[in-house]
Amino acid sequence: MRRRGLDFRRPVRKRFPNVVWWTVCGILVLVLIVVLSREGQTESKPTISRKPYRRDRIMEGVTVTDEMLSSNSVTRQLTDQISLAKAFVVIAKESNNLQFAWELSAQIRNSQALLSNAATRRTPLTVGESETAIRDMALLLYQAQQLHYDSATMLMRLRAKIQTLEEQMSSANEKSSKYGQIAAEEVPKSLYCLGVRLTTEWFGNPNLQKKHRERKQMDAKLKDNSMYHFCIFSDNILASSVVVNSTALNSKNPDKIVFHLVTDEINYAAMKAWFTVNSFRGVAVEVQKFEDFKWLNASYVPVLKQLQDSETQSYYFSGHNDDGRTPIKFRNPKYLSMLNHLRFYIPEVYPALKKVVFLDDDIVVQKDLSGLFSIDLNGNVNGAVETCMETFHRYHKYLNYSHPLIRSHFDPDACGWAFGMNVFDLVAWRKRNVTGIYHYWQERNVDRTLWKLGTLPPGLLTFYGLTEALDPSWHVLGLGYTNVDSQLIEKGAVLHFNGNSKPWLKIGIEKYKPLWEKYVDYSHPLLQQCNFH
Ligand SMILES: *[C@@H]1O[C@H](CO)[C@@H](O)[C@H](O)[C@H]1NC(C)=O
Ligand SMILES: *[C@@H]1O[C@H](CO)[C@@H](O)[C@H](O)[C@H]1NC(C)=O
Ligand SMILES: *[C@@H]1O[C@H](CO)[C@@H](O)[C@H](O)[C@H]1NC(C)=O
Ligand SMILES: *[C@@H]1O[C@H](CO)[C@@H](O)[C@H](O)[C@H]1NC(C)=O
Repeated sequence: MRRRGLDFRRPVRKRFPNVVWWTVCGILVLVLIVVLSREGQTESKPTISRKPYRRDRIMEGVTVTDEMLSSNSVTRQLTDQISLAKAFVVIAKESNNLQFAWELSAQIRNSQALLSNAATRRTPLTVGESETAIRDMALLLYQAQQLHYDSATMLMRLRAKIQTLEEQMSSANEKSSKYGQIAAEEVPKSLYCLGVRLTTEWFGNPNLQKKHRERKQMDAKLKDNSMYHFCIFSDNILASSVVVNSTALNSKNPDKIVFHLVTDEINYAAMKAWFTVNSFRGVAVEVQKFEDFKWLNASYVPVLKQLQDSETQSYYFSGHNDDGRTPIKFRNPKYLSMLNHLRFYIPEVYPALKKVVFLDDDIVVQKDLSGLFSIDLNGNVNGAVETCMETFHRYHKYLNYSHPLIRSHFDPDACGWAFGMNVFDLVAWRKRNVTGIYHYWQERNVDRTLWKLGTLPPGLLTFYGLTEALDPSWHVLGLGYTNVDSQLIEKGAVLHFNGNSKPWLKIGIEKYKPLWEKYVDYSHPLLQQCNFH
C-alpha cells in the first residue's frame, strides 16, 4: 500500500514552461547560496574526519550499538551506502568540492573492496569486519547532507540519478538499518519535491500572494488573548499541516484557534503557499521565519554565540575533536538548529501573548484542546506531562551529576517531563525571567559538561520548580520508537511520535502511521505529483 509507484519517473519538467522552470531554478540556487554563505566557515571547508572509528571507541557508551549489531544484512547496507555515495560524488564534483568528491570515492572503493573480498571467499560479511567502513561512510553521507547536497535544487539537477536510488532504497529493509539516526534525518525526496512545487507556486502565482495578504487581515486575531494560541517551530510542511489539520478537525471552536508557525528561510515561501492554498475550518495561521527576528543574534543568544566559537564548530561538524569519546548522535548539528531552540524564546517571539500551547511538529491531535487554556498552572510557567512513571526518566538520567553545579542545584530524583505539548504562561515566564535562567545554564554549558544533547536537558534546568504536572492523557509519548498501550492511545489528546520512526518516513512504525496519515490528503494534486504514496 505504501510502495512508491513507478510514475516517479514521470518527467517533472513537462508541467512547467521552460522559462518558469529556469526562473525557479535560479531562485533556488540563490536561496542556496544565501544559506551556504550564512553558514559560512563551516560549510566552505571540508570538515571530514579522516580518522577511522575504531571499534572499541564505538562500543563505548553508544546506546544505538546494540540495535546496530542485530541488523540482518550488512551487505545490503554497504550496497545502499555505495549507491547513495556515488550520487553525491557527482554532485560534489558539480559543486567543485573536489576534496569531498575524492574522500567519497576513496570510501566507496574501500567498501567495494570489502564486498568483493566477501564474494570471493563465499561467506557473508560479518558486522565486525564491516562496521568501520559503514560508519565512516555514514559520516561522509551525513556531511553531504550538511552541505545541502540533497536539497531541492540538487534533487532537480540529478533527478534521473535520484530516481534510481529511490528504487534501490525502497527495496532495502530500513527498519534494520544500522544508521537509524541518519535514515531518520534524511528527509524523504517527496518532501523536498513538495517544498519545491510550493515555492514555485508562490513565486509564480500573484493571486496566491494576494490571497495571503488578504488573509493577513485577520491580524487582530493574532494578538487577541481571548483566542487559543498554538505555536509550532518547524521546517516540515507536511508535519506542520497535520498538526494544524488535526487540531482544527477535533476542535469545537476552530474559529477561535490561531496557529503561529515559525520556519526557516528555505521553507518560508512554501509554508506560506501551503497554508494559503488550504484552509482548515477557519483556523488562522501565521507564518514567520526566524531569520527575521532581530533579537535572535549572537550578542543575546548563547547558542548562537557558542556556534561562532571554532571549537564548538569542530565538535559538531568534524567529529574527531574529543578523540571519538562522544557518540556521533550526540554531536548531531541538528541539535544546534535555531528552530529547536526557539522554544526558549516564546515570549520574545510573541510579545503580545499571555498564554501559548507549544506543539512539536511530530505530533497529531485527537481531541479538543481548548481545555488546556483553562488549566490552573498554580503560578508555574510550564504545564507538561511528567515522564517518571518509568524510574529512568528522572533528572539523573539527563544531567551530569558529577558536576558540582548540577549536584548543588537539582534533585537527581526529580521527575522529568516532556517537551512537545506544553502550556506556557508567558506572563509568569516574563515575571520569573525564565529566558534569563535558560541563558545562565546555556552559558555554563559552553564546554558541554552539564549535558550533551538536545533541548530537554536545558529545559529541565530552566523550568525546574516552575513546571506543573498535567494529566498524562493530554500528551501520550513514544509512538516513534516503542509499543504504546492502545488504551492510552485511544484516550490521548495529543499523540507524540518522538523517536526516530517518524510517521512520514519509511521507517515509521506501520501500526501507528494511520493515526497520522488520517490527516494527510493524499489526493491533493501536489502530493500526487510528488509521489507521496
Ligand atoms: C541583538 O539582540 C538584542 C537583544 O534583543 C538587541 O537589543 C540588539 O539590538 C540586537 N543586535 C542587533 C545587531 O540586531
Ligand atoms: C534576567 O536574567 C539575566 C541573566 O541571568 C539577567 O542578566 C537580567 O538582568 C535578568 N533580568 C531581569 C529583569 O531580572
Ligand atoms: C561531568 O562533570 C565533571 C565535573 O565538571 C567533568 O569532569 C566531567 O567531564 C563531566 N562529564 C561529562 C560526560 O561531560
Ligand atoms: C485534513 O484532514 C481531513 C480528514 O482526514 C482530510 O479530509 C483533509 O483533506 C485534510 N486537509 C488537508 C489540507 O490536508
